Amino acid sequence: MSVTIRPHEGKLGVLLPGMGAVATTFIAGVEAVKAGLGKPIGSLTQMGTIRLGQRTDDNSPKIRDFVPLAPLEDLVFGGWDIFDEDVYAAATRSGVLDKDLLRALRPQLEKLRPWPAVFDQRYVKKLNGTHVKKGDSWMEKARMLIDDIDRFKRANGLDRTVMIWCGSTEIFLEKKPVHETIEAFELGLMENDPHIAPSMVYAYAAIMTGTPFANGAPNLTCDIPALLALAQREGVPVAGKDFKTGQTLMKTILAPGFKARMLGLDGWFSTNILGNRDGEVLDDPESFKTKEESKLSVLEHILQPEKHPDLYGHISHKVRINYYPPRGDNKEGWDSIDIFGWMNMPMQIKVDFLCRDSILAAPLVLDLALFMDLAGRSGMKGIQEWLSFYFKAPQHAPGLYPEHDLFIQLMKLKNTLRHMKGEELITHLGLEYYD
Ligand SMILES: NC(=O)c1ccc[n+]([C@@H]2O[C@H](COP(=O)([O-])OP(=O)(O)OC[C@H]3O[C@@H](n4cnc5c(N)ncnc54)[C@H](O)[C@@H]3O)[C@@H](O)[C@H]2O)c1
Repeated sequence: MSVTIRPHEGKLGVLLPGMGAVATTFIAGVEAVKAGLGKPIGSLTQMGTIRLGQRTDDNSPKIRDFVPLAPLEDLVFGGWDIFDEDVYAAATRSGVLDKDLLRALRPQLEKLRPWPAVFDQRYVKKLNGTHVKKGDSWMEKARMLIDDIDRFKRANGLDRTVMIWCGSTEIFLEKKPVHETIEAFELGLMENDPHIAPSMVYAYAAIMTGTPFANGAPNLTCDIPALLALAQREGVPVAGKDFKTGQTLMKTILAPGFKARMLGLDGWFSTNILGNRDGEVLDDPESFKTKEESKLSVLEHILQPEKHPDLYGHISHKVRINYYPPRGDNKEGWDSIDIFGWMNMPMQIKVDFLCRDSILAAPLVLDLALFMDLAGRSGMKGIQEWLSFYFKAPQHAPGLYPEHDLFIQLMKLKNTLRHMKGEELITHLGLEYYD
């Protein structure tokens, strides 16, 4: 039985709170693909295939030909930032993409200017922008965001919208009573509760306008019972948290390999230098704590020390991020991994990943925008666990542990697509080939 998927008629608005390095690299990349100036490398929706049926059938269509995803030509971009800088200027300042490429796209990019943001410096200590909404309460500001979304829809004749949080990492917040129920949360919005962060106001506005919401940062945001209940009530898909890009991507590729071979792990020391604005924000201990929690949880869930105390019972896992301006967006991440094998003999692995943060993140924004829209059109609501593939700290149902293993995540994602289309799921059992 397949799922009924509403066709993608008309345009899809992609709303981006935070139009910094990641968001502008994403927008410029999509415009480049549309103009035939580049390929969407790193995007599963654009380049990935999905096997259907038996291995002998030789039937592996492109994912975008298998499920009805919005075509890139139908995407319209909008967003908010605390700095009033158009997308061309922000992309140029971020220094991620080639300047010649950006110049070729200048007319499209220059037209895009962020709307004034919902912001409060208490939640991002290192930034202080003036392009912000003024209002007496979070609720009033949420209504302003809803007005922005409605205006954007009308002005561009949009059929649907999705929102992907690409804003800065906020300070570490814990769940409080105000996050528990829709009623408590809405009262908190009216009373300016300090445990409500700006990202939650955006998530609220998204859900209230039927806009699927994905969170690319580690902030608590929609990972609270109140917003999850609201998403259920309004029939809106949500997902998070924190794009899985550089070092954590490598961790979730390597750690499942060690575990598969029952190799032990004594410790994993990860350090990074990066010099973009994200690095500057993470230089604040309170924002770093949010990121650290997200990065640290990965190993424990993959290695399951409680099931394998001899191998993983005493892991020393440390993560450091150092703000070092000369590197800009070109992060360098070192991993020093202490493993052990047969008869406890120790071994070491060193990884030195000279990556480009936003180059790795941009295709994830695209995939999430298209898959969240697909989920919305398929009547899926609440947490979209099948999109864990994209996140460092995947949101999951209470009582479940998150799935971090990249390969299990990919299998889950593809099987969800097969399920949506009524295709047989692939278990990789394969005994039938030997009957
Ligand atoms: N590989 C990656 O780049 C990667 C991976 C995982 C997560 N992330 C997260 O993605 C987010 C974006 O990263 P980036 O490199 O583009 O950072 P960035 O600093 O270049 O961009 C973030 C933008 O958000 C804006 N902003 C902050 N608070 C806002 C608010 N309340 N409303 C609207 N705009 C707001 C800032 O002014 C800034 O322009 C960060 O939270 C980062 O931690 C990035």
